[in-house]
Amino acid sequence: MSEQAINYVDVPHQLKSGDSVFPRVVLNDGSLQTLDECAAWIEQNKAALEAELKESGAILFRGFPLNSAETFDEFSNAFGYPNFTYKESLSNAVRINFTERVFTANEAPKHVEIFLHHEMAQTPISPSKVFFFCKTAADEGGATPICRSDLLFAELKAQQPALAQDFINKGLKYTTHMPSENDVNSGQGRSWKSTLSVESQAEAEAKLKELGYSWKWTEDGGLRATTPVLPAVVKLENGKEVFYNQLIAAFMGWKGVRENPSSAITFGDGSAIPVEGLQLATDLAKDYTFDLPWQDGDVALVDNYMSMHGRRSYSGERKREVLVALAMD
Ligand SMILES: [Fe+2]
Repeated sequence: MSEQAINYVDVPHQLKSGDSVFPRVVLNDGSLQTLDECAAWIEQNKAALEAELKESGAILFRGFPLNSAETFDEFSNAFGYPNFTYKESLSNAVRINFTERVFTANEAPKHVEIFLHHEMAQTPISPSKVFFFCKTAADEGGATPICRSDLLFAELKAQQPALAQDFINKGLKYTTHMPSENDVNSGQGRSWKSTLSVESQAEAEAKLKELGYSWKWTEDGGLRATTPVLPAVVKLENGKEVFYNQLIAAFMGWKGVRENPSSAITFGDGSAIPVEGLQLATDLAKDYTFDLPWQDGDVALVDNYMSMHGRRSYSGERKREVLVALAMD
């Protein structure tokens, strides 16, 4: 690539809306051979890439010289965003750290699907950007679906204006159960000690209080915690409204929630969210979703406000390794 060029290419099934293409795909034509060259190229093109990211919601970088957690760390670091570590986060997923910045996306077993969500939108502190790196793709399946949250909410609003207003006005509360020990067989099995970065129940309670949660200890030594009121919809600088929450992931994937949504998700005033509304959002999301077709070495930069993401189930002998780095800017 010449000094300034960003080599955008088309791939099948990209979504087009107005001027935006979702996701944008950038192909290295071979001229960037080292990470230093990549870092210089990122620096030169940062403003253009960021403008594109805001418009599109996600950029897939293909053909860049990455093959490890360390090279991914360097590549993502070249954007210069402040780091958002797993340790500090209140993520419910069990993950493994490779570097301070880089960790596994989710240790849930391969048959488990992770449904669409904005990263950590069910907690009071969430990252603004998510980098994914495909170290090794699965034999079969394992795509990372991404979904344009602004388009989804616009359609929801058109079909169910009263429901959309309830989401805007009332916000949401989430109740999660954190086990006493990490459970890698669950998509949200992170223990309360790890989630809250504490050692004792007293420390946990102090932390929860500070964050505005209410809570209850369960007989098995676990913790049931309810968030303060969090937004269901966020209005971005460009005026777009995004469905910034974990409703689809909770409704579709959290244990027992489909049968009894109010056990985990309610409006901010504690009232029940209509099941038809949850089903509608889940169904509409399909129209605005693109499956990132991972190839080894791919990096995706996802705007956590514009796009939701998830994980398709997968199969085969090959170990799927998709790593993540979070940023806050
Ligand atoms: Fe996620």
